[in-house]
Amino acid sequence: MVAYKSKVVERIHLPSRERRERALEEAGYNVFELAAEEVFVDLLTDSGTGAMSDEQWAALLRGDESYAGSRSFDELESAVQDVMGFSRVVPTHQGRGAENVLYGALLSEGDVALNNTHFDTTRAHVANQGADPVDCPVDRAHDLTVDGSFKGNFSLDRAWSIVDEVGAERVPVVISTITNNSAAGQPVSVENTRRVREFADEIGATFVIDACRFAENAAFVRDREAEFSDSTAAEIAREQLGYADALVMSGKKDGLVNAGGFVATDNETLFERCKQRAILYEGFPTYGGMSGRDVAAMAVGLREAVEEAYVTDRLEQVRTFAELLEDAGVPIYTPPGGHAVYLDAASALPHVPPAEFPGQALVCALYREGGVRGVELGSFAFPDTDRPELVRLAIPRRTYHREHLEHVVETATTVLENQEAVSGLEVISEPENRELRHFTASLEPI
Ligand code: F0G
Repeated sequence: MVAYKSKVVERIHLPSRERRERALEEAGYNVFELAAEEVFVDLLTDSGTGAMSDEQWAALLRGDESYAGSRSFDELESAVQDVMGFSRVVPTHQGRGAENVLYGALLSEGDVALNNTHFDTTRAHVANQGADPVDCPVDRAHDLTVDGSFKGNFSLDRAWSIVDEVGAERVPVVISTITNNSAAGQPVSVENTRRVREFADEIGATFVIDACRFAENAAFVRDREAEFSDSTAAEIAREQLGYADALVMSGKKDGLVNAGGFVATDNETLFERCKQRAILYEGFPTYGGMSGRDVAAMAVGLREAVEEAYVTDRLEQVRTFAELLEDAGVPIYTPPGGHAVYLDAASALPHVPPAEFPGQALVCALYREGGVRGVELGSFAFPDTDRPELVRLAIPRRTYHREHLEHVVETATTVLENQEAVSGLEVISEPENRELRHFTASLEPI
């Protein structure tokens, strides 16, 4: 059931087909290079792209911009305590700032970090400490069609096999990313979280939860894990997060803000170490790279994220979008995740071989056909890995209506009906570091 009405609106428009074709060419067939004004429905990311509530806008005006001792920080601290159950908070400019602060405090050269699946920036920050990021997804995580309630879970079997190989002393950090963004936004069960806690205790590691989408994860648990069918998302969130020693948070997701993040913990020693790193990299510990007003808005956003009406509406919207796509015959990853629907580009464009980037070809076709912007997460973004050819259509929070999503479904349907017209692509130029090439590389149709 819809939980909002609009109070402020932003004009959008669909550029002409000629303009879209020219814009795509000028962007080197890389949609990160498109001007946002050339995009009609922007599903590039759910990060920092949502709409704030009137309560959050009110909080912005009241934000305390004091360098030290800001009242807005007190509001954030009490929101983190109430919603997430942690007493110590180190604010940062966004999630990756929190990763730098926390993983710099926990990891050293030669260490191994285990994660259900490292998100790109997590992987990069672990590697930046000289440590080795190793993924432990469950087998079905990368199976696009197998059913499963918690395909985002952390595989204890994999984790134990790594520990057997390298030795427990080399694994000081175990991470669970909820929901699992790099595994199609799939949720993680509380039962799995308990087992990861036990595993971390057995090997003497610090257990970190990447809590970016903790509220969406909690709503999945409510709907799918029998033990919690009578619990609220707010209750589940506290229970699940409570198993961790520390949280890394990007407020741009379930903090419902456009900028911000933090580390949270109850461990005083870890808190002190994070605080010192935060002063170096982020800012004084009562603002951490955010303006006071952004801190204030995030304090409100965290509380709103676990409201039943909000989070139920959120998951429903993503599920409805997935159903509309499936009904139209568009192949997708199932079941859909919490923040996005992932298209199966290999099935959608079977005539485009992996070497010609079917995912990126589909991304370009969606823009050309309907001004829709998604993101490729396949052989273009992850060269030299055997990830499935996915295109992520991420839904910004509280932003688009059913009509927008119906436009995307129509666009995808038309692209598929004329799939033979979609050609593969080749890379014309790319940065030296191929790992991040999808942000800046240029391509051309073959
Ligand atoms: N962890 C996860 C699981 C994420 O999805 C992201 C960001 C981050 C950490 C980093 O947070 O952007 O605030 O620095 N994900 C965005 C995305 C960028 O599009 O999925 P950040």
